[in-house]
Amino acid sequence: MQRASFGSKIGAILAAAGSAVGLGNIWRFPYETGSHGGAAFILIYLACVFLLGLPIMIAEFTVGRRAKASCGRAFGLLAPGTPWKWVGTLGVLSGLLILGYYSVVAGWTLEYVLVSLTNGFAGQGPEDFVASFQTFSQHPFRPLVWLLVFLLLTHFIVVKGVKDGIEKSSKVMMPVLFILILVLAGCSLSLPNAQAGLEFLLKPDFSKLDAGVFLGAMGQAFFSLSLGMGCLATYASYFSSDARLGHTALSVGFIDTLVAILAGLIIFPAAFSVGIQPDAGPSLIFITLPNVFQQAFGGIPFLSYIFSLMFYVLLALAALTSTISMHEVVTAYLNERFGWSRSRAAVCVTLFCAVTGILSSLSLGVWKTTFFGLGLFDLFDFVTAKLMLPLGGLLISLFVGWYLKRSLAYDELSNYGQLKAPYFPVYLFILRYVAPVAISLIFIHELGWL
Ligand code: PHE
Repeated sequence: MQRASFGSKIGAILAAAGSAVGLGNIWRFPYETGSHGGAAFILIYLACVFLLGLPIMIAEFTVGRRAKASCGRAFGLLAPGTPWKWVGTLGVLSGLLILGYYSVVAGWTLEYVLVSLTNGFAGQGPEDFVASFQTFSQHPFRPLVWLLVFLLLTHFIVVKGVKDGIEKSSKVMMPVLFILILVLAGCSLSLPNAQAGLEFLLKPDFSKLDAGVFLGAMGQAFFSLSLGMGCLATYASYFSSDARLGHTALSVGFIDTLVAILAGLIIFPAAFSVGIQPDAGPSLIFITLPNVFQQAFGGIPFLSYIFSLMFYVLLALAALTSTISMHEVVTAYLNERFGWSRSRAAVCVTLFCAVTGILSSLSLGVWKTTFFGLGLFDLFDFVTAKLMLPLGGLLISLFVGWYLKRSLAYDELSNYGQLKAPYFPVYLFILRYVAPVAISLIFIHELGWL
């Protein structure tokens, strides 16, 4: 049977960018920036994306396109009979575990779309937003319904296949996302005192720098670029043989970074404009922002209404293109490894993630059991984003940097000599030395040893 592929290069770029652009950009990036002091964090983040993230992304692309198999099988095919196959298995497992709890937050975005749509934020004050977020996220079944809706949306797009599901939906959702984000940033920047927010984003204060800022920026770059679990390797297995890996990685990195900065340009000017500090942490976009939206726009209710509706739609779309990519990693693996049909494979993934998602969601409210001192939601977040992704990224760079033949890595980068790749030695140096050392540092830091 012929392997599925993306129909066009731009479709491939948009799908990979769709995976990268997600809650990581609009939810995690602003609060990380906010709590790490703004512009200085952003500068370091940019360095991490371009110096570490892009080489590792190209390495993932190399593995996927070369093996023409989803990440779960690609390592085993390129290194038969070696333990490298476990890197693929680790990726599949990370995808499965992240998808469950990520869908919980993704589901919240749908609740906020509905509340915005029905104008439920109108007339509320700061305490009301805290209370309603807590009541909602700890409710025994309301978040579960949204979680299931979100998983089903993801499921149906994945079942439709690579070209008709993933590529087509990305080609629609990504441009809509761009338009929304540009309009929102424009509105936010035109608010009174937006200047203060802009300065926070653009004027670095280097006195805030410490090891935590460096390591936080690196971790954020991995999460945001979808690195370390083979999502991008799986997508690259659908790339055509003339897709340019370096160029694609640069485009995806650029789009992902642009969206993160634009999300900052929406959130910080709006927050400063109403005198709210931007360091609220993870609750920033679910508690602080609805409040900001109500107070901004000089009390013109219609503008507040439209702004918050557009914002939560944007968030839901961004999350959806990312959940699709995680789902695809596992679905493609089950399909290839066990010969199951895509729909059967997808049903298993969706059911599994529904269970882990439901348990994670309940762990934020009625279910108090803890494991290693963490509720299940926090445990999944910690184990996947902080341990499994960096470990995956480390192993992928070692695999391409040291295990794969140098000529093979060069052939993939240069499309068998058709493209010039003068940066190849630098790329290889980063994979061999810089990335492994840097990632080991994140790792050690996350475990609290540094
Ligand atoms: N990059 C996604 C985001 O920014 C999250 C993600 C991580 C997706 C790992 C796939 C794999 O939200």
